[in-house]
Amino acid sequence: MRKPFFIASFAVIVVLALLYYMEVQVPFWVTGLLLALIILGVRDSFQKSHAVIRNFPIVGHFRYMLEAIRPEIQQYFVESNTDGRPIDRNDRSVVYQRSKKQLQVLPFGTQEDLYAEGQEWVCHSMFPGPVDEDFDRVKVGGEQCTQPYEASIFNISAMSYGSLSKNAVMALNLGAAKGGFYHNTGEGGIAPAHLLGADIVWQIGTGYFGCRTKDGGFDRDLFQKKSQQEQVKMIELKLSQGAKPGKGGMLPGAKVTVEIAEIRGVPIGEDVLSPSAHKEFSDAAGLLNFIKLLRELSGGKPVGFKVCVGDKAQILDVFKEMDKSGIVPDFITVDGAEGGTGAAPLEFANAVGMPLKDGLSFVASLVEQFDLKKNIKIIAAGKSLTGFHLIRSFGLGADIVNSGRGMMLALGCIQALRCHSNHCPVGITTNNPSLMAGLEVSSKSQRVANYHSETIKVVQHLLSAMGKARPSDVRREDIFQRQSDGTYKTYAEVYS
Ligand SMILES: Cc1cc2nc3c(=O)[nH]c(=O)nc-3n(C[C@H](O)[C@H](O)[C@H](O)COP(=O)(O)O)c2cc1C
Repeated sequence: MRKPFFIASFAVIVVLALLYYMEVQVPFWVTGLLLALIILGVRDSFQKSHAVIRNFPIVGHFRYMLEAIRPEIQQYFVESNTDGRPIDRNDRSVVYQRSKKQLQVLPFGTQEDLYAEGQEWVCHSMFPGPVDEDFDRVKVGGEQCTQPYEASIFNISAMSYGSLSKNAVMALNLGAAKGGFYHNTGEGGIAPAHLLGADIVWQIGTGYFGCRTKDGGFDRDLFQKKSQQEQVKMIELKLSQGAKPGKGGMLPGAKVTVEIAEIRGVPIGEDVLSPSAHKEFSDAAGLLNFIKLLRELSGGKPVGFKVCVGDKAQILDVFKEMDKSGIVPDFITVDGAEGGTGAAPLEFANAVGMPLKDGLSFVASLVEQFDLKKNIKIIAAGKSLTGFHLIRSFGLGADIVNSGRGMMLALGCIQALRCHSNHCPVGITTNNPSLMAGLEVSSKSQRVANYHSETIKVVQHLLSAMGKARPSDVRREDIFQRQSDGTYKTYAEVYS
């Protein structure tokens, strides 16, 4: 988007030069103003920290001016801190501050109504204690896994190459490499941008991208070869994601560039379908056998599945089948219906699948009930942006938390809600080269690493204040929720 600016600047300079040559008097302040704007625009086009200003020189500043005065104006028009955007204002400003390592304190105390229905809090201890040195690492891999992996408690959730731009994936991967946490590839295959040094979790969706036969089935040899790469630490089999559970996807032919076709193993320029169901299995026994196969082909790496809880009986069947067959996944990723996506039909985004807290507490109870805690780690995802969100999920039984849109905010996402249009103004969810150019990889990768390390620091402080040594010590009894009748209950009472 910088091109129009450079063309316009060139035109202005030519006109000014022509007028000067023709000795036409141009008021000094006009020349001065125009040249000052051009200098500002050139500076904007090459600065690295603001993608909007980089993509929209000069005019991009208006966005930040409005952003700066919005709270003052908004309080006259909007009651709560939700401004109609999926991620509310307080949570996203915390992410922005942490990604820039800015001071993250609230002046004058809380702005929340602590007596409002649904308000949640944890209770501190009178005797805060030390936190284990390795509180932020979790070993994933049960008895059937020969290459267990020490994962961070906070990581990048699955977001496919193609739904995100190349620069965004590169910045996420470099950020994860700097911070020592993993980067889930999403269902679009392993791209060169995923191999910049970070540990990766390879996600296998219904499209089997990257290990796909000509007719869209699963290619064992391709999978074996790629899964044995050193950077691949775990394999995640995707059954569903919260924002559009049970719904397949379609990548329009226009987005299937030479590069994406190569990565996914599909023909260039043709629409690519991700069916709603897997071809390789259609029941609990089939699912577990496929997990066993992926574990063997990958040389014993941890293998798990991602699901947004729908029909509870089906999940229970999978656990019963684990009991019967003895095949146990190494992790289960529970995605909340409030999770993000590049694009989803309204009904699916709003009304299909179980929200995170309900789905997570259900799966965690089954892991307890079937005595599988030593074998299965639980990963939670869905609007998890702050230290409190992580503690809350740990209290419900999660061992690890993944974030999708939190990491996008750290990359500079401004929630323009254009993810589905290829016109993302900050170059995150687009493969339009001129918009993508606005996202400067190295500075944004540092933002991602900062957001992670600052969030981990807050989790450490919260655990210490609660008198807990590590996340697995947090219990449902430690988290409180205000009820509609003004009383409060613990998560143990609410999610029993
Ligand atoms: C742009 C985008 C692309 C995504 N792509 C995938 C995907 O390929 N596979 C998947 O399982 N989930 C995908 N998701 C869902 C996230 O992995 C995650 O489960 C969900 O967004 C969690 O919620 P959060 O964004 O609030 O952290 C995507 C989400 C976004 C925002």
